[in-house]
Amino acid sequence: MKIITTKNYEQMSRQVANILSAQVILHPKSVLGLATGSTPVGVYKQLIHWYNKGDIDFSNVTTINLDEYCNLSPTHPQSYRYFMNDNFFNHINIDKSKTFVPNGMADDFVREAQNYDALIQQNGGIDMQLLGMGHNGHIGFNEPNEAFENTTHVVNLAPTTIQANQRFFENIDDVPKQAITMGIKAIMQAKKIILAVSGEEKADILYQSLYGPITPCIPASILQLHAGLTVVADEAAMRVINRRNSL
Ligand code: GLP
Repeated sequence: MKIITTKNYEQMSRQVANILSAQVILHPKSVLGLATGSTPVGVYKQLIHWYNKGDIDFSNVTTINLDEYCNLSPTHPQSYRYFMNDNFFNHINIDKSKTFVPNGMADDFVREAQNYDALIQQNGGIDMQLLGMGHNGHIGFNEPNEAFENTTHVVNLAPTTIQANQRFFENIDDVPKQAITMGIKAIMQAKKIILAVSGEEKADILYQSLYGPITPCIPASILQLHAGLTVVADEAAMRVINRRNSL
């Protein structure tokens, strides 16, 4: 595991964007695993900026997103498909038919989940997976559980996740209670993983994830087992790790 500490959110975004752009420049046909949430917004902004300067070409890139809310249409402003189009895809030269987000409106979620896993395999797996982390240590929407869920699946969102995501909706009742998420296996099979973390409120869970026991109660803790993990965290998110390591 490699940890890169940055001064603040802007620097974190820039470093993660640097790593992703190096991947795309070296391997133009890369399959990128992408994430939503507030954390990667700055990364996407930076990549768009470099794209506009002519530094990166996304025309041969494929993207596979981690997750989507159940029963939100792709045109709903809080759906993750809308988020990705709005924050990233609409501003770069990616072929939209090669950008994948689970279908939150599927009639049959079991089949949708199977198809999504098959899609990941058909594309040769993920070259570089970008991850954020929930306040309870979730990755994608893999919530704390009794066991790691390997495959793409429908999940009941934890009350703390619903509460955390309330800020994007008018009221808490509008927050979807279920989501469809890529499982731990596809994430762990990514050749490289970048975990981006910002803010003091994630400092404790980041410490537990990287230095505590590996347990499905903290899904991000499984990342300790990935040989190609790079954590890019700002000083605020690193506070507990740095304090413990200096004891
Ligand atoms: C959501 C997403 C995750 C993301 C998490 C953290 O639950 N499904 O992929 O990592 O939020 O979001 P934020 O970056 O806004 O803290």
